[in-house]
Amino acid sequence: MPELIPVLSETDIETSVSRIADRISNDYKNQKPLVIGVLKGAFIFLADLLRKLAIETQVDFISVSSYGSGTETSGKVSITKDIRMDVANRHILIVEDIVDSGITLQFLINRFQKAGAASVRICTLIDKKERRQTDVRIDYACHEIAEGFLVGYGLDYAENYRHLPAIYHLKFNE
Ligand code: IMP
Ligand code: MG
Repeated sequence: MPELIPVLSETDIETSVSRIADRISNDYKNQKPLVIGVLKGAFIFLADLLRKLAIETQVDFISVSSYGSGTETSGKVSITKDIRMDVANRHILIVEDIVDSGITLQFLINRFQKAGAASVRICTLIDKKERRQTDVRIDYACHEIAEGFLVGYGLDYAENYRHLPAIYHLKFNE
């Protein structure tokens, strides 16, 4: 069985989400952004973040897959559930659980820009720079974590551990 090593507590997360929510509320005054959550990993973060925003928003979800059931990106992104709302002329705020290689984000940014979005910004719970392969700009990051495979608060390993209220490093013992 892999070991769960605590990385971020519930309080750490609550504090950082509040801080980022204040920045977003300030930056998007009078703009009513369309917040697009990337399923499944972002569902808990998005739910907490939205309730802390002091601005009006609309919400949609997209589901993409690039990992299969492993811990490394396959490099090929495919949409498994698309958004239903029109992004043309809208200010888009993509909400991700974690940015790793950045390949998923690059794909989404290109797609929304091509579809005529007025602006596209990125908000992620965790910015993990170790394996970055693109130069995507992350506008809002709650936490920067150097390395390791993380689970909990929406993040999974092979669909497990999403329900954990805090974030853990999943350590595989050989
Ligand atoms: P990227 O395309 O490599 O940036 O991968 C982004 C997606 O991979 C995230 O939205 C997560 O769903 C998944 N992912 C990347 N790193 C981790 C991790 O440490 N734990 C859980 N999921 C991860
Ligand atoms: Mg994800």
